[in-house]
Amino acid sequence: MSSLFNKRILLGVTGGIAAYKSAELIRRLQDAGAQVRVVMTPAAQEFITPLTLQALSGHPVHADLLDPAAEAAMGHIELARWADLVLVAPASADVIARLTQGQGDDLLTTICLATAAPIALAPAMNQGMWRNQATQDNIATLAGRGVHLFGPAEGSQACGDVGPGRMLEVQDLVAAAAGLFDTGALAGKTVVITAGPTREAIDPVRYLSNHSSGKMGYALAQAALEAGAKVILISGPVALPAPERVTLIPVTSAQEMYDAALACASSADVFIAAAAVADYRPASVAEHKLKKTAGIDTLTLTLVKNPDIVASVAALPERPCVVGFAAESELLLAHARAKREHKRLDAIVANDISTEGIGFNSDDNAVIFISDAGEEYLAQRSKSQLARDLIGLIAQHLMTTTA
Ligand code: PMT
Repeated sequence: MSSLFNKRILLGVTGGIAAYKSAELIRRLQDAGAQVRVVMTPAAQEFITPLTLQALSGHPVHADLLDPAAEAAMGHIELARWADLVLVAPASADVIARLTQGQGDDLLTTICLATAAPIALAPAMNQGMWRNQATQDNIATLAGRGVHLFGPAEGSQACGDVGPGRMLEVQDLVAAAAGLFDTGALAGKTVVITAGPTREAIDPVRYLSNHSSGKMGYALAQAALEAGAKVILISGPVALPAPERVTLIPVTSAQEMYDAALACASSADVFIAAAAVADYRPASVAEHKLKKTAGIDTLTLTLVKNPDIVASVAALPERPCVVGFAAESELLLAHARAKREHKRLDAIVANDISTEGIGFNSDDNAVIFISDAGEEYLAQRSKSQLARDLIGLIAQHLMTTTA
């Protein structure tokens, strides 16, 4: 079955006898893992009721551009932004003409104007209408603008004619939609990521921590989502919103992160440790705020080692593909290679955190990806782009090692 795992599809239904197939199309898209919201033109409602499609999609059907209730709930702009794909099926000759003209005189055409998502049309009309030069010119114009065309098929039509203009079969539409997404080599995989700092309590007020913002780990979570993975994000305290559609497990201390990571590891195909985990914690946490003592100007804390999370995951008998990070301020390659060996990692991402503009809390990073396949230098770039590149390298590694 084609995978549309994690994808959000806005289904536009227009007036034509093929509208009755939109009910089955919703079910098949959902079977492929997609979330579906429906927009209907007034003519479509002559062929199938909004109630039917609402019941199937699990969301209110949107029909009116100027419906204040709809605008309050999820207006045309939110819908346009929500979609990963706008699929117009069936696409009537009328809506094709209005899209060609860039009209925004109803909700569906307005969304198509506003969205940044790809648009796919599944034409459905009488063969004479399909062959009409006006329709053919409109189709050529839309294709030239990057609109995707799914079909139409040839065959017998409801009006008794035989020829081109039948909407593609539902399973073919689902396959064509899935084909648009680069569901990536992580489609159907589960990726567990640790991100952010940990906080090691000294007393009810104070703690030990570090400068990690979580940006690197959160970017990896987003990139893994885009590659079609199911993502579990175990995050220390950060000021970032979690990417939609990840399973977020917020933690505070290294011990809590360790407990969460080991609980998730068995379901992971890939484990990426981007978190800046405190190596040590205070041997004991004071019950009350530590008071200053007159005449004594020093405070000594005894620290004890925290469990090594990534090494523990790598030591599991049934281990996932384990990728760690190395945050170094000198001898980057030597230290990173040694860490990879010592922790028994499939790969390690070495970053020099002493260089301005990369590493902790920066928007960019530059790394060396070290694995059995060698050492891949990834020069400075945004953490979001770097995350996509790292996910690509990890997927390649996964493919070669599990082939
Ligand atoms: O969060 P940002 O602000 O975006 O910054 C990104 C980053 C610099 C934090 C990130 O790119 C990074 O380098 N993360 C790893 C930081 C770190 O702790 O590196 P390390 O060399 O000390 O640890 C090596 C590896 O062991 C890491 O994968 C770490 O997650 C893991 N580790 C360390 C200690 C421990 N007790 N458990 C672990 O799992």
